[in-house]
Amino acid sequence: MRQSLRTTAAAALVARASAANSTLATLCTVSSVQAALPANGTLNGIEIIPSSVTANAIYNGTLAAGMGSTVDSTTYDYCNITVSYSHTGKSDTIVLGYTFPGPDTFTNRFYVSGGGGYALSSTSTGGLAYGAASGVTDAGYDGDYDSNVLAGNGSLIYDNMHMFGYKALGEMTTVGKALTQAFYGVSSDAKIYTYYEGCSDGGREGWSQVQRWGEEYDGVIVGAPAFRYAQQQINHLTSNVIEKTLDYYPPPCEMDKIVNLTIAACDALDGRIDGVVSRTDLCKLNFNLNSTIGESYYCAASSSSSLGFAFGQRKRQADNSTTSTTTPAQNGTVTAEGVALAQQILEGLFSSDGKQAYLPWQYASSFEDASTTYDSTTDSYVLDIKSTGGEFATKFVQLIDVDNLSSLDNVTYDTLIEWMNTAMIRYSDTLQTTVPDLTTFQSNGGKIIHYHGENDDSVPTASSVHYYDSVRTIMNPELGYNESVEALNDWYRLFLVPGAAHCSTNTLQPGPYPQVNMATMINWVENGVEPTTLNATVASGTYAGETQNLCSWPLRPYWSGNSSMECQYDQASIDSWTYTFDAFKLPVY
Ligand SMILES: *[C@@H]1O[C@H](CO)[C@@H](O)[C@H](O)[C@H]1NC(C)=O
Ligand SMILES: *[C@@H]1O[C@H](CO)[C@@H](O)[C@H](O)[C@H]1NC(C)=O
Ligand SMILES: *[C@@H]1O[C@H](CO)[C@@H](O)[C@H](O)[C@H]1NC(C)=O
Ligand SMILES: *[C@@H]1O[C@H](CO)[C@@H](O)[C@H](O)[C@H]1NC(C)=O
Ligand SMILES: *[C@@H]1O[C@H](CO)[C@@H](O)[C@H](O)[C@H]1NC(C)=O
Ligand SMILES: *[C@@H]1O[C@H](CO)[C@@H](O)[C@H](O)[C@H]1NC(C)=O
Ligand SMILES: *[C@@H]1O[C@H](CO)[C@@H](O)[C@H](O)[C@H]1NC(C)=O
Ligand SMILES: *[C@@H]1O[C@H](CO)[C@@H](O)[C@H](O)[C@H]1NC(C)=O
Ligand SMILES: *[C@@H]1O[C@H](CO)[C@@H](O)[C@H](O)[C@H]1NC(C)=O
Ligand SMILES: *[C@@H]1O[C@H](CO)[C@@H](O)[C@H](O)[C@H]1NC(C)=O
Ligand SMILES: *[C@@H]1O[C@H](CO)[C@@H](O)[C@H](O)[C@H]1NC(C)=O
Ligand SMILES: *[C@@H]1O[C@H](CO)[C@@H](O)[C@H](O)[C@H]1NC(C)=O
Repeated sequence: MRQSLRTTAAAALVARASAANSTLATLCTVSSVQAALPANGTLNGIEIIPSSVTANAIYNGTLAAGMGSTVDSTTYDYCNITVSYSHTGKSDTIVLGYTFPGPDTFTNRFYVSGGGGYALSSTSTGGLAYGAASGVTDAGYDGDYDSNVLAGNGSLIYDNMHMFGYKALGEMTTVGKALTQAFYGVSSDAKIYTYYEGCSDGGREGWSQVQRWGEEYDGVIVGAPAFRYAQQQINHLTSNVIEKTLDYYPPPCEMDKIVNLTIAACDALDGRIDGVVSRTDLCKLNFNLNSTIGESYYCAASSSSSLGFAFGQRKRQADNSTTSTTTPAQNGTVTAEGVALAQQILEGLFSSDGKQAYLPWQYASSFEDASTTYDSTTDSYVLDIKSTGGEFATKFVQLIDVDNLSSLDNVTYDTLIEWMNTAMIRYSDTLQTTVPDLTTFQSNGGKIIHYHGENDDSVPTASSVHYYDSVRTIMNPELGYNESVEALNDWYRLFLVPGAAHCSTNTLQPGPYPQVNMATMINWVENGVEPTTLNATVASGTYAGETQNLCSWPLRPYWSGNSSMECQYDQASIDSWTYTFDAFKLPVY
């Protein structure tokens, strides 16, 4: 529906100078952009305000490094456009920003890069490297979404919820593609290849586009998606509640030592000693955490607490209060209590009557959510409520406009599950972002590369595996396991990244990280080259510079002779990634 309206709109506007005869200077003017805007009535519900247009040609512009992209020293000529629109019948104003490359470098592509934390996106220049037009949206509210959830206590702003959930990006893309087509004078029957790339909430945003605007995108690259929002965000409190229940608040160094010992013990299980646990499943199946009890640890005194790679890091970095802590030297031995805590965190969240509510991080991941704070008045380590979970509990579940829970008094495993259940229902059509029926996207020929660091300590890696399985079974109800994997392989592939942390490499494991995902995706979409493996490069350590071909799930990597890696099928390993959430009566996709 949207597609055909857009095409009609573009056709009416195509009577403009041919791109071959245009320069950035002639195209990048307010009047030229105004003439290229889709008219009111052509995009249902979107009324563009021509008088709001700004257009400035930028020459030799340099780009800042974005999430997941490295510094690019190339300079670019582009048109910087801003334009506002309103929703029909509402008095709202949404500001869009577009970066259009010079007509000589435009490649008939549109590119969207996602944001992170509670920000939808920050830069519209991500497409320049691919000759693609791209855009950003302010979603109609000022600042990050977590500052725009509530109008006041008890009063959710539903428009903002939907805009952040999926609508703002979809509208930005729809308007952007129509504008692109008319701006460059692309003929109405020519395709504008449309790509999305993002990690963390940017990964969730990517899935929101696949699920809701499937007809608009050709290639979507999603990393470590912070989707299944209700479970994902409340789960940030699981480690805290286990600490409280066990009444054990470990010195951070003790948990770090358990992680280091786990990495050391499990490194070789994948057939190669390289400091990387490429098979966290074999680690889970074979390593006994109890073997770490009694090992000594030492961490020097430090003047700030570790911020890690957690979802929500942006926010915490701006909060001076967390960085002022002074922690004394920590010298001790791993305790049975510390191991019991680690063990329970690695089993995941269960209700008091033993039903599974959520899945854990993988063995050898950092215990970021279990980090404690040093209290100098008692010379002990105390609970540090994770604000990623605390803020979600207050603002999104309790609907109280405060930034964090003030305590975990009376908060049990069952409370966490109640909160998850409340949020799952309330946000089922917005933030949850786990609709498993991707028929529109698939039938329009869309392709997905989904990747996830195997030692992500913020968004559990198994969370991606669970959604993959939801899509696999919902999309192929009539097929057996192998056949459904094969059917998915044609258009949706999941790659786990050995050793990697949350949307980045891991300081504790010198593993590979995918660096050329867009090139791989363009080759898949435009040239039909299916990525049977994912190109990734080792950034540091003994094997720095090595290219690895990451295995496509459910195949798992196994090395022989330290040099050759094969992707193998291992049922016991796959089973170790599989969870049933019987603590909920509704299906959890
Ligand atoms: C190119 O632009 C010039 C000057 O505006 C115009 O006279 C000419 O007809 C254009 N040529 C094409 C092929 O559009
Ligand atoms: C489209 O609608 C908006 C908002 O109602 C209005 O400001 C704008 O002038 C309209 N555009 C045109 C070309 O009439
Ligand atoms: C951009 O850089 C090129 C090469 O350095 C130079 O020739 C050109 O004049 C620059 N353009 C502008 C508008 O500054
Ligand atoms: C585009 O212009 C807007 C408004 O002047 C500005 O805020 C933004 O930083 C510019 N973006 C780029 C990529 O130049
Ligand atoms: C919202 O509720 C919290 C907790 O009861 C309270 O501290 C705060 O003042 C309230 N805010 C408003 C704007 O009423
Ligand atoms: C864990 O290993 C890292 C190096 O990989 C080291 O920097 C850190 O100090 C170790 N932590 C502990 C507690 O031994
Ligand atoms: C680890 O030790 C605890 C306490 O002795 C025991 O209950 C638990 O079964 C042990 N776990 C394993 C996997 O051996
Ligand atoms: C953090 O410190 C800076 C500099 O002292 C100050 O400007 C800023 O307001 C502080 N931020 C918060 C959240 O307290
Ligand atoms: C840690 O404590 C042990 C036992 O008390 C002591 O032998 C060792 O020197 C201490 N290590 C450091 C680095 O202080
Ligand atoms: C959240 O609030 C708790 C209780 O006030 C506090 O201990 C904790 O440090 C806060 N967390 C953050 C990240 O601000
Ligand atoms: C916890 O529960 C007890 C008993 O119901 C109640 O008295 C107390 O106020 C509660 N504490 C909080 C912080 O809600
Ligand atoms: C992987 O990417 C690297 C870096 O761009 C490139 O040199 C290499 O040819 C690629 N390998 C494959 C198999 O695509």
